[in-house]
Parts: sequence; structure tokens; C-alpha cells
Amino acid sequence: MSEATLTIDPAFTVGDVDPRLFGSFVEHLGRCVYTGIYEPDHPAAGADGFRRDVLALVRELGVTTVRYPGGNFVSGHRWEDGVGPERRARLDPAWRSIEPNTFGLGEFMAWTRAAGVAPMMAVNLGTRGLREALDLLEYANHPSGTALSDLRRAHGAAEPYDIRLWCLGNEMDGPWQLGERTAEEYGRLAVRTARAMRMIDPDLELVACGSSGAAMPTFGAWEATVLSHAYEEVDHLSLHAYYEPLDGDVASFLASGALMESQIEDAAATCDHVRALTRSKKRVNLSFDEWNVWYMTRSRAAAQEPWRHAPRLLEDHYDVTDAVVVGSLLIALLRHADRVRMACQAQLVNVIAPIRTEPGGPAWRQTTFHPFAQASRHGRGRVLRVEPRSPVYECAAGEVPLLHATAVQGRDGTVTLFAVNRSRDEPLDLAAGVRALGDARVLEHTVLADADPAARNTAADPARVRPRPAHGAAVDAGTLRATLPPVSWNVIRLGR
Ligand code: AHR
Repeated sequence: MSEATLTIDPAFTVGDVDPRLFGSFVEHLGRCVYTGIYEPDHPAAGADGFRRDVLALVRELGVTTVRYPGGNFVSGHRWEDGVGPERRARLDPAWRSIEPNTFGLGEFMAWTRAAGVAPMMAVNLGTRGLREALDLLEYANHPSGTALSDLRRAHGAAEPYDIRLWCLGNEMDGPWQLGERTAEEYGRLAVRTARAMRMIDPDLELVACGSSGAAMPTFGAWEATVLSHAYEEVDHLSLHAYYEPLDGDVASFLASGALMESQIEDAAATCDHVRALTRSKKRVNLSFDEWNVWYMTRSRAAAQEPWRHAPRLLEDHYDVTDAVVVGSLLIALLRHADRVRMACQAQLVNVIAPIRTEPGGPAWRQTTFHPFAQASRHGRGRVLRVEPRSPVYECAAGEVPLLHATAVQGRDGTVTLFAVNRSRDEPLDLAAGVRALGDARVLEHTVLADADPAARNTAADPARVRPRPAHGAAVDAGTLRATLPPVSWNVIRLGR
């Protein structure tokens, strides 16, 4: 058995965790909205059509912020179709679906209140532009006395929605995006839209589109060009990344968190490069507003279906290994909490999601639900700088440490260590120096692992995979010792 070490000392910190790191994403895609969060005919639905069983799981998941309405969907979206008494059905070319618009902005805002989350709204900069973004802002946020604010009031929302956080389009570098742009075109459009939106409200928080993935040929150059135009007008740059085992290469898949860390560091370096060039005083932060495990190669094979309403799209069924990778991605985000202020796991329900539903049937937790819920519950406070020393393994991603870890100190002084063992066949012994925590002891050690790393939850057996109490972790003479099973996500809480 191999051994890894690290030191936990509250004197060495990364930064405070912005609660918005635990965001999610609701797109009009497949069954995320319809028969996901919204299903008026379901026995668990309230008068508003929102599934109460799903709302309870969203609260348990600990989601803080929800991005809406897309995604690729937003680049063809006309927000006016989804407000007021007359709804208009449209073709959604992005997902080859029929969008009835029976759920729109007003329903989403009511749902955010029911779920206790903050909205993150994307404007359409694909098939639309500045004028429509301003119209949406006026409709959503202006109190009254104008055509669009009074229209909102006539639609039953007397108070402004007061949406603070706005994305300037979505993945505008992608050839799949309706109205894709060059970096120059998008940079100019983003800065003009941002300036105009800030003329209405200078305190909005704005996110510019970064590359849609680190593998895009223009990754880095796109960011530099867009920010050369928009640096002073935006607060955040977006990052997106999805991971899957390619050609069955599970060892590299387990290294996804390392790839995510590189992407964050590269994007931050590009922001800082533009800051130096422009002699700016401000710092643009990062919004990792789409991340997850997505078996994208499988989804591609299922494309070109007939036009349908709420088809089953991207309904990935996650196993233990997927949950461990999701845990590792959460560790990567926390390890960069000083720079990544917001993140959205894509998506919330049914579509590559931690929550699954059946129309008229139950809502249940996928394996990936658990690392997110635990990180959101115990990952609030200040990230401590831990530098694991670990045995490594070779894979397509290079030389990767077996141990991936971070620690967060809560306001009550409790320290939570989040740790993943990437080994597929060996337990990993962990020895962590915790002398700086005084007489702290192990309050709890839970582990998500399984003799069968392909085990999954189902509607019939929804608790097959879940974190379970582990035994044996203890602090002795200033050292925490614990054994991490192969392919495992571990949460070890230390306190008095
Ligand atoms: O989350 C699924 C899709 O992935 C989103 O619509 C798009 O932005 C990304 O390519």
C-alpha cells in the first residue's frame, strides 16, 4: 500500500469560498425544465407546476445559484415568447426540440424563490444583440413606469426581479452555436452590450464568454482578444469543461481534476496578461459556469431525431467512478477558490444531472449528487493551502498524483478534508500533519466507493451508492491517519 502526506495549517490559506461556487444550471434542454423541475400534472407538483419532490432535492443538494435559460438554447431564444398569457411555441434548433415556452422568465424567477437560489441570467448574443438585452433588463429589473417594466407588472410581477448576475451570451466561439462569432466580433459585441447594460445599472455583475473548452483551437487567444476589448467592462470570464473516459481510458478520466486545474490556471494567466497590458487596476475573476462528467461521445450518436417536445437528451446514468471524478472536480474548484468565484455544475435535473426524474414518477439522487451535496455543506468558509505529496501514476494526462485533496475551515473552526484516491486497485494511506489544529479529533469520515466502481443508483434502488461512514481514521500525536479505498471520494471532518 502506498502513502501520501500533506499538512493542514490555517496559517496558510487560498481564500474565502464564494458560496456561488456551488451553482447549477437549468437549460431548456431535454427534460431539465419540462418533467424535470416543472410538471404541472405530477402528483407532487404545487399549483405553480413545480415538482415539490425535486425542490426538496435541490435544497438538499445545496445549490446556491442557477444559470438560465441556456446554454446553446439561449442563442436562439426570444424571451418575450415565455412571458404573459400568450405563449408561443418555437423550434429550438440547438437541441432540435419544440419549445412551448409555457415555462419562461416569470416561472423561473418564482422557481428560484421556491428553491432558495439566486438567478444567473444569460442574454442571447447569438441571433440577437444589444437592443434585446436591454429590453430584457428593463422588463426584469426596472421597477415601473416604462413599457416593459409595466408589462412585467401586468404579467403579475409587481416587484422587479432584481437579477444581479448576467452572462453575455454562451459559447460564442463554438461552430455549433447559433450566431457564433470570431473573437474580435464577440469582444466588440460584449463590450458594447456590457456598457449599455451598465448605463441602466452600473452595479450588475457581468460574465464574458471564454472558450467553450480548453481543447478549442483558439483557447487562450480567444480569451486574450475578447478581454482586450471588454476587460474593464466585465467582472468574470467564463470557463466550460466536460469530462468522460475516452476509448475506455479510466485512468486518464480519473485525472480530470488535474486538467481542470490547468485550465483554471491558464485562463487566470490570460486575464492577468491582459490586465498587465492594459495597466488595469481591477482583476477579472473566473466563472466556471459549465462543468461536469458528460458522455458526450454517446450523445453525438443519438443526434438528428425528429422534432419533439422535451425529448430524453443527455440523460447520462452515473456510476461510482463518475461520482469520484465529480468529487475531484469540486476539489479542483475549491483549490482555486481565490480566482474561481462562481461555478455551475451542468445541469441540475435529468440532463447530465445529479437529480433524475420520471414523468409522473419518482425523483432520485444519482451517484454524483453526493459529492456536490457534501462539498456544498462542508466546503463553506476558507480554503486552506494544502500541498499533497503523493505517489503518482502515468496516463495520457501525464504524471498524475494518486491523491487529490483540499481542506476548508468553516466559520466554527471545523476543518473538512476532501480527498480522492485515484488508484483503481490500491488503497492509499494518508498521513496529514494537523498539529496546527491543536487538539482536533476526527468527527466523521465518510467514503463513497464500492467494490464495483460501475455501480449506479436507479429509480428502484436510489440509495445503492451513497457516502457511508468509514472507520479507522484518527489523530495521534499531531498526525491524522486514514486509509482511502481505491477510486474513492472521502470527507474527513476535524474538530473538537
Ligand atoms: O450543458 C450542455 C451544453 O453544453 C450547453 O448547452 C452548452 O453551453 C454546452 O456546449
